[in-house]
Amino acid sequence: MSETKIWVSLTAIENIPVREGRSVQVGGRKLAIFNLGNRFLAVENRCPHRGGPLADGIVSGSTVVCPLHAWKIDLVTGSVTNQAENLECVKTFPVRVQDGVVLVELSVGNSDTQSSQPACFVSISHDSSINHSVLGKA
Ligand code: FES
Repeated sequence: MSETKIWVSLTAIENIPVREGRSVQVGGRKLAIFNLGNRFLAVENRCPHRGGPLADGIVSGSTVVCPLHAWKIDLVTGSVTNQAENLECVKTFPVRVQDGVVLVELSVGNSDTQSSQPACFVSISHDSSINHSVLGKA
């Protein structure tokens, strides 16, 4: 099956404060975008334990602590770092910043139902109520 990768604009960098995360809906995907101060990282916004919202977790170094049961997720590798017996991980996504805007690379294609959904609608929600529509391909 063919698969295409596209860069999707998410939001201006100032909408994600340092050491915080934001949930982002891109097509059928739910991502968590984090600002580590010197870079942005993105993972699936679903803890591998019981689906906790990682975007609401506490950022420590390059990890986030799930707000539900404190599993610690490495935002670079997606692996769980404080559960030695658990080999599950979350999906990570390439991120870049261009002209003050955070972009994430997504796969679109026929082999994956979720990734085949249009990546043309983006909304960000969190306590700060960022609500940003759109974007499209970069
Ligand atoms: S749901 Fe994340 S640690 Fe339980």
